[in-house]
Amino acid sequence: MTNTSRRAFLSLTGAAVVGVGLAGCSLIGAGNTADGPAKVNRPLNKSRTLVAYFSMPETDAPNNMSEEEAYSTVVIDGKVLGNTQYVAQLIGARTGAKLFRIETAKKLPLDHGELEDISRAQQGIKARPKLKAVPPNLDAYETVFIGYPIWWYDMPMPIYTFLEQNDFSGKNIILFCTHGSSGLGGTVGTVTKALSDSTVLSNGFEISRDDMDSADRQVRDWLASIT
Ligand SMILES: Cc1cc2nc3c(=O)[nH]c(=O)nc-3n(C[C@H](O)[C@H](O)[C@H](O)COP(=O)(O)O)c2cc1C
Repeated sequence: MTNTSRRAFLSLTGAAVVGVGLAGCSLIGAGNTADGPAKVNRPLNKSRTLVAYFSMPETDAPNNMSEEEAYSTVVIDGKVLGNTQYVAQLIGARTGAKLFRIETAKKLPLDHGELEDISRAQQGIKARPKLKAVPPNLDAYETVFIGYPIWWYDMPMPIYTFLEQNDFSGKNIILFCTHGSSGLGGTVGTVTKALSDSTVLSNGFEISRDDMDSADRQVRDWLASIT
């Protein structure tokens, strides 16, 4: 993000917080609350737990990053990871769960401005972008972590595709996100409503892209609090 567009984003964020708050009030009456349990009901079984995530690091080059590129990435041992990808790896390392990366069939651009334009247009028409693959053997998992960056105060549209094209009934769903300042927004409530045959934990994990240095500790503490 250039300084100008970052400022624009930050001021938009303020507006959205007001909007989300108001939307939350009117939706409570409609039963759209994130009212699932705060903890999983039994210890996670690592062979029956999957971490599915969507992440868009805006470069794959570890050096000489622009401000925008640095915002959306973590470099570990010279390898560039998206923020959400990094958190997914931390959860995988601590739980022993397998990882599955959600990717669109048509590659999204790395360029920040292009990504903003495409994602905003997709959100505007509630698009369901085609995905590259479905997670193998989803039936075998009883718990699925689902992770995403917040885009325009919501989940990226490929996450909607992922939720709609797979059968999560009977599973525990645990959400996590990375963001610029919006937190999870209303996404736990949205997923709770969309996956009415699943148990969606109310206590999702959120971390700002500014706090990635402490992600390992934060993931550890959060996992301890939900299990
Ligand atoms: C198109 C786009 C829209 C974004 N919209 C928001 C937003 O509404 N609220 C927010 O807090 N962060 C927003 N961000 C920032 C990302 O959520 C944040 O950089 C995230 O950590 C990126 O994760 P990733 O590297 O795994 O893709 C946006 C980023 C992009 C590229």
